[in-house]
Amino acid sequence: MAEPVRALILQGPNLNLLGSRQPEVYGTLSGRDLAALVRDWGRELGLEATLAQTNSEGELLDLVQGAEGRFDFLVVNPGALTHTSLALRDALAGIPVPALEVHLSNIHAREEWRRHSWISPVCRGVLVGLGPLGYRLALEAGLALVGGRNPGLPSGSNPSPVPSPSQ
Ligand code: DQA
Repeated sequence: MAEPVRALILQGPNLNLLGSRQPEVYGTLSGRDLAALVRDWGRELGLEATLAQTNSEGELLDLVQGAEGRFDFLVVNPGALTHTSLALRDALAGIPVPALEVHLSNIHAREEWRRHSWISPVCRGVLVGLGPLGYRLALEAGLALVGGRNPGLPSGSNPSPVPSPSQ
């Protein structure tokens, strides 16, 4: 029997507070309930979903660096590190494992500073503003990418970001 596709779902700073943290923005599902839901979705899709949450940037980098050879794709919600962490961007760019960026809230409809992500240019896709559904869609997208079932899009790993003066 073929090995199941392995997905690593990484939750960054403050996502352990889901449920009580700004429920009007992030919803009422707790971090634990979201993790259970994502695991269920993983099982339903026939993939092996491993979840980790950390409030530490260094630990997040270690988890990303350790993903090569152990996981087929990453789903990353870096929390506020999205808007600050060049180190996370470099870590994601430094491994051949494709990554999908997820945000529960629509970061483009919020404060100006949230509209910029250092991470998006090194991710294969971005899902924002869909709440928990974003994780489900990211798992489906990751499966399709890894399985080569993505008609109409060029294949390849993480795209090289196009340099621009603002980056
Ligand atoms: C978030 C959006 C970020 O701007 C914020 O700092 C978070 C959560 C989201 O899932 O909507 O912590 O990543």
